[in-house]
Amino acid sequence: MKYLYLLGYPLSHSVSPAMQNAALHARGLYAIRYIKNPMPPAKMREMILALRAPHCLGANVTVPHKQTIMPHLDELTARAREIGAVNTILKQDGKLIGDNTDAYGFLQALRVRRVNPQGARVAIFGAGGAAAAAAFALAQADVREIIFLNRTLTRSVALADRLNKKFPFLALALNDWDALAQTQLIINATSVGMAPQADASPAPRDFVFAKHAIAFDLVYNPPATQFLRDARQHGARAIGGLEMLVYQGARAFELWTGQRAPVRVMRDAAANALREISRASTNQ
Ligand code: ATR
Repeated sequence: MKYLYLLGYPLSHSVSPAMQNAALHARGLYAIRYIKNPMPPAKMREMILALRAPHCLGANVTVPHKQTIMPHLDELTARAREIGAVNTILKQDGKLIGDNTDAYGFLQALRVRRVNPQGARVAIFGAGGAAAAAAFALAQADVREIIFLNRTLTRSVALADRLNKKFPFLALALNDWDALAQTQLIINATSVGMAPQADASPAPRDFVFAKHAIAFDLVYNPPATQFLRDARQHGARAIGGLEMLVYQGARAFELWTGQRAPVRVMRDAAANALREISRASTNQ
């Protein structure tokens, strides 16, 4: 048996194992299993040892390791280096290669929801790995301006610097909370609102979403976060994180296995697993 790992902490909310195992099964790859490997930040050494073991074929990396794992890998793809975050690890001749499929997943999610961000003014809550992937994807899609709203300003500055190197003509603003009301697309790329803190939102409590605004939450569990519930209540459009999860996972699957990802199977498995989790938590 060979393994693909999900490395992160905590991992109780994740439906990636259900999604990836369904895909492996659908493609007849019965000798590979995708498993959660919860590792707190202090266990970086153990994490790298687990990745180097011969039975490990690769991994996904999630909160809080997407950036801290980078210096421990043997190589980074140009994409991962630019974005400054790794969510997928491949093994080539025993070497650990860090890649990023989040930006692709984010763009695909916009596409299937028929959102064209070209020329838009966009606000992003967060400045971590997920925010970086979304920002690079949006810059590639020719948005007009990105406003980063993050608790820690130094992280927004570092992300803006990286973006500026690749997209010198893109307008960027940091912590301009007043501009939020004039943005067309508002993205939550923080972990605020993720189960079990499901009543928290990254937006200010008194913020009123404009009717023409689109709120996109990268959080997929719960499917209706407080951020999205508030947006809907004000008549704005609300998009959850499930599609991005599916497409970042589909691209990772293709990189690990060399086979086309069964996207529909993956979406159904992820949605079913989410329903199971919410049923179990309401029965508690
Ligand atoms: P990921 O790689 O998934 O983006 P991350 O790099 O740990 O994970 O980033 C998490 C993001 O959520 C960061 O923007 C973080 O803000 P800080 O940069 O200030 O740490 C944000 N975040 C997490 N918990 C938060 C909270 N309780 N309030 C506000 N922001 C929070």
